[in-house]
Amino acid sequence: MTFQLNPPSNGLIGHRGLAHFAPENTLIGFQMAKSKGLEWIEFDVQLSNDNELMIIHDHNLNRTTNGNGLIYEQHSEILSKLDAGSWFNEKFTGTTIPNLDKDLAKILSLDLNLNIEIKCPKETDQNYKNTLADKIITLIKHKWSPSSPLPLVSSFEWPILLKIRDALPEQPIGFLCEILTADVLRIAAQVGNATINCHYPNLSEQQIYQAQALDIPLLVFTVNQQDAANKLIDSGVFGVFTDILTDTYSSVRKVV
Ligand code: G3P
Ligand code: MG
Repeated sequence: MTFQLNPPSNGLIGHRGLAHFAPENTLIGFQMAKSKGLEWIEFDVQLSNDNELMIIHDHNLNRTTNGNGLIYEQHSEILSKLDAGSWFNEKFTGTTIPNLDKDLAKILSLDLNLNIEIKCPKETDQNYKNTLADKIITLIKHKWSPSSPLPLVSSFEWPILLKIRDALPEQPIGFLCEILTADVLRIAAQVGNATINCHYPNLSEQQIYQAQALDIPLLVFTVNQQDAANKLIDSGVFGVFTDILTDTYSSVRKVV
């Protein structure tokens, strides 16, 4: 099955919402991305200790909230009361960590394409990974609005993606990688309806062509330089994750 989701017409995917303009991974950040004309956003998800899907990047609370400690050790009700905005700018004081289940209607109402990145702290076990996969499966199977496009679900933990695909045969998945190897090309081509989401500094033109030859959409993180974004988009990548860019000059998309 080929990849079904529409690429962003400007080639841009707001990273963690649109992290230069608003606190990352927050509803106000998602709204900011929408207001600046983005069609796609990415955000990160991990589990609280009561197995809620919390939208936050780091495994601990120190950098982006007024709390501290590990996300998976804290109850979602405690996490939801933290301030996740004032570290960024005091005008965002009172912004909270979103809960993907509870905030789903608000997120879907923005009418954006969504990339949910599943995060697993290194020290977590198989039980954590299985629970996280099951929570995502339940969310998409039972709570996703049929009028919204399916999200792209990505992770560096490829077995989680394969578990999700087993349960949801139509689900688009994204293999995150630091380096675009022959292995990831082979796996993405084999499972189908899959992207490769690759770290920008490690990506060569030849690797872009290799992905295109296999009809695998390529998403590139994180690109904050306008000329680099334009070049990648012109070379036909599906999209680039960006904290700051809101426009490209790219006129003719050559998306695989
Ligand atoms: O999903 C692309 C990108 O977000 C991966 O890196 O650390 O920003 O989640 P990170
Ligand atoms: Mg991410």
